[in-house]
Amino acid sequence: MIQFIDELIRKRYAAQFSSIQKEAETALDRLISRTGKGNEFLGWLDLPDQSPDNVILLEKTAKEIHDSGDLLISIGIGGSYLGAKAIIHALFGDQHRIRFIGHHLSPLELTQLLKELESRDFYINVISKSGTTTEPGIAFRILRELAEKKYGESAAKRIIVTTDANKGALRTLADKKGYRSFVIPDNVGGRFSLLTPVGLLPILAAGADINQIIRGAVSGFETALSQDKQNPALQYAVSRTVCYRNGKGIELLSSFEPRLHYFSEWWKQLFGESEGKDGKGIFPASVDLTTDLHSMGQWIQDGVRSVFETFLVVDHYQEDIKIPYDESDLDTLNYLSGRSLSYVNQKAFEGTRAAHEDGGVPTAVFHLDYLDEEHLSKLCVIFEVSVAISGYMLGVNPFDQPGVEAYKRNMFKLLGKPGI
Ligand code: PA5
Repeated sequence: MIQFIDELIRKRYAAQFSSIQKEAETALDRLISRTGKGNEFLGWLDLPDQSPDNVILLEKTAKEIHDSGDLLISIGIGGSYLGAKAIIHALFGDQHRIRFIGHHLSPLELTQLLKELESRDFYINVISKSGTTTEPGIAFRILRELAEKKYGESAAKRIIVTTDANKGALRTLADKKGYRSFVIPDNVGGRFSLLTPVGLLPILAAGADINQIIRGAVSGFETALSQDKQNPALQYAVSRTVCYRNGKGIELLSSFEPRLHYFSEWWKQLFGESEGKDGKGIFPASVDLTTDLHSMGQWIQDGVRSVFETFLVVDHYQEDIKIPYDESDLDTLNYLSGRSLSYVNQKAFEGTRAAHEDGGVPTAVFHLDYLDEEHLSKLCVIFEVSVAISGYMLGVNPFDQPGVEAYKRNMFKLLGKPGI
C-alpha cells in the first residue's frame, strides 16, 4: 500500500484547499479525456505494453543477459537512464551487474569502465529516443569499438538498441549492423518512458520481477486516475500547488532510505523538466536522511523559508538488525538495545518532521509499505500522473522540454558541429 499524508499542510492553508482541489479535479479530467496541452505525448498512460509478444521478448532478452553473468552497459542520459537506475538501485543497492554510462562527458568515469571491461564480458544496451544525443552517442561509439575488437563479428549479438521505430542515427545503425532492437513509442517522452523497454530491459536484466512491476503499474493507474478525493496523485498535486502559491518555490524530497537516492534523481527530472518553464515551476531538490541532516539540516531548519518538504518513508523492511546489549555501556547506547534499526530510523523521521514543521517548513509524507518492484512502479505512476495534474494547474505543457536545447546549441557551436 502507498499512502499520502498531508494533514499538516491542509491545516496550515485550510482556507485555500477546496478551490485548489477543484482546479486539480478539472486538470485530472483533462488528462483522462486527453484534451490538455501536449496530449500527443500521453502514450505513457497506456503502459506497460502487456502484449505477450512484448513481455516475452523483453523477459527472454533480459534473462539471456542476467543468466550470462556478464555486465550490462546501459548507455543513455536523462529519461533514457534515470528510471532504470532509480529502480535498480532501490532494489539491489550496488549488488548488480548493470553499469550506467553516457550520461556525462567524464574521461575519468569512462576510463574506469574501460579498465573494468578488460577482464569482464559484457552486453551493451544503448538507449536514445532521438538516437542523436551527444553524450550517449560518444559513449556508444567508444564501447562499440571495444566490443568489435573483443568479440569480432559476434559483437552484434551483444549490442541491443532501444530507440525510435523509424528515425534517428541509432535506428539506421541497428538496421545496418543487425543489432537486436526495442522501440520507444513516439507518443512517450523520455522522462515518462520508465515502463517501456527503456527502463524495463535494464531493470529485468538486473533480476527484477516483471509481474510485480506490471501489478504495481496497473494498480498505480487505477489509483492515480480515479476521481476519488483520496487519490494520492491528486492530493499531492493539490498540496504542492498550495505550498507554491504561498511562496514555497522549492520542494525537498526527503528520504530516510539511501536506496532511494536515485529514485529522487528520477523524481527531480520528472518534476523539474515537466514544470520548469515559462518562468514558472517549483524547484525540485532532494536530500538523503539522516545523512544530510548533518550537512543540509541547518539550512532546512533555519534558512530562507522558501521550502516545503515531501518525505518518502518505507514502513516495513524485509531485513532488519537489532542493536545489541553491551555490559559496559561506554557508548551509553544501552537504552536502545533490543530495538531494531528501522525503529530508530522511524523515530528519526518523526523527530525530523516535527522539527521542520516547527521551523516553518510545511511537510507531507508518502508511506510505502515495502521497498519492492510493486510499490516502486506504483509510486512512479502516481508521480507521473501527479506532475501532469500540477503542470496543467500551472498552465504549462508538462510534456515538452524546449529549454534543454539551449546548452546544446552553444556546445555544438563551440565544438564546430557542421551545419550549426
Ligand atoms: O525527458 C526527456 O525527454 C530527456 O531527458 C531525454 O530523455 C534525454 O534528453 C535523452 O534523450 P534521448 O533519449 O533522445 O537520447
